[in-house]
Amino acid sequence: MAGLLALFSLFLILPLSALSDPNPKPVPPTQAHAELTTYGFPIGLLPSSVQSYSLNHTSGEFSLDFGSSCKITLPPDNYLATYSKTVKGKIAQGRIAELDGIRVRAFFKWWSITGIRSGDGELVFEVGMVTAKYPSKNFDESLECEGKRSSS
Ligand SMILES: *[C@@H]1O[C@H](CO)[C@@H](O)[C@H](O)[C@H]1NC(C)=O
Repeated sequence: MAGLLALFSLFLILPLSALSDPNPKPVPPTQAHAELTTYGFPIGLLPSSVQSYSLNHTSGEFSLDFGSSCKITLPPDNYLATYSKTVKGKIAQGRIAELDGIRVRAFFKWWSITGIRSGDGELVFEVGMVTAKYPSKNFDESLECEGKRSSS
């Protein structure tokens, strides 16, 4: 009887959770990723290896520690991006500014990403005066660092 009841409750619970979100987003790997989503950004902007972070909810100033520098290949154009051991910036709803520590390799040069804006399903990356736009859905997954090296 108790077993039947348990089975019954299982059937009651399962369809509810399955139906609640037809397009489930991946679970944020760390609290820092979860925090990022509350500001309207996808978790894929950060590698999964966040060791620690701090965020001042008043000013939006944040600091992320990845333990060591980190390299990932960003979709959809497979740009190589590096994250310094420490990445800093200032976050507000849909806006990251004064970004320091993320660089992207494109056109045979390394470019520092200075800001990121999010809205209407798009991410706008700012490199000084230049911007590049990508669909946010390309960043729904948080990537692991590639070929981790102990140096730098
Ligand atoms: C957070 O930012 C506010 C506004 O800039 C500042 O007054 C406050 O001292 C900061 N708090 C911490 C813990 O740094």
